[in-house]
Amino acid sequence: MDTEKEQEKEIYTNAWNKFKEQKDGSLFSLTRYQKVNEREYRSDHDNACLLNLHKGKYKIVSRGIPMMKHSLDIIIQEQLLWELKPQTIFEFGCYSGASALWLSDTMKRYEVETHLYTLDLDTSLVSPLAKNNKNITVIEDDVANVAKIFPEEMLKNLPHPWFISEDCHFHVMKTLEHFHKFMQQGDYIVVDDTNPNCPTFTDDGYVLEGKWGRAKLDIVHEFLKKHEDYYRIDSYYVDMFGYNGTMNWDGFIKRIK
Ligand SMILES: C[S@@+](CC[C@H](N)C(=O)[O-])C[C@H]1O[C@@H](n2cnc3c(N)ncnc32)[C@H](O)[C@@H]1O
Repeated sequence: MDTEKEQEKEIYTNAWNKFKEQKDGSLFSLTRYQKVNEREYRSDHDNACLLNLHKGKYKIVSRGIPMMKHSLDIIIQEQLLWELKPQTIFEFGCYSGASALWLSDTMKRYEVETHLYTLDLDTSLVSPLAKNNKNITVIEDDVANVAKIFPEEMLKNLPHPWFISEDCHFHVMKTLEHFHKFMQQGDYIVVDDTNPNCPTFTDDGYVLEGKWGRAKLDIVHEFLKKHEDYYRIDSYYVDMFGYNGTMNWDGFIKRIK
């Protein structure tokens, strides 16, 4: 092998070894799972960076359908889905159905059999690709009726681990409390858009005001403090791209018992 090729090989071998050290270090870190009072109210991502990330957020499509996911959260969730390998996924807020399809497609790519339930007040925008997918059940209802839509008889029979994505921003505490009764150790709940610095407008003019950001983060913290024995914030994921380097500040939550 000539010197140039040897140097090249060394770079990638070092990267591979470093990856293994770093990944193991963080995944098995004793401080990975944190309580609310161990978290700082901040992010390494400043507002200018957020605004740019939001520009891209509203351009992202999955199978050609618009998906309202922050680019870094797509990667973080993809990593978490691989680690968790959920058998059941619940999504609150389907919008176009793109995120449901993306979640379902990701599990298919991972060769894990998963069924996904996605709920929205109005499913008229949901793509037929999601509506006709045998691994996806699209439900049209108001999340205010969460206990009726997902009754005990149904939830106690759905296989774990569960991945729950809260992305409709309404009745968040009601949803968290209802699922708390049925979640098991190892399940995850991902609460989207808890970042209090979420821009009010993108410079493309999208309105981003709503019941998320600070208000949503407060709800998540209240829930986590109330059920402190049961849940931890997974810092491996929330801090993967810098401290709270996500739209979901403190929003990747693991059930620990
Ligand atoms: C942020 S979008 C969901 C984005 C989608 N998960 C994605 O990643 O592309 C929020 C959705 O919540 C729905 N929504 C708002 N209020 C709701 C309610 N009370 N019950 C159910 N869905 C609701 C809206 O219709 C909207 O489609």
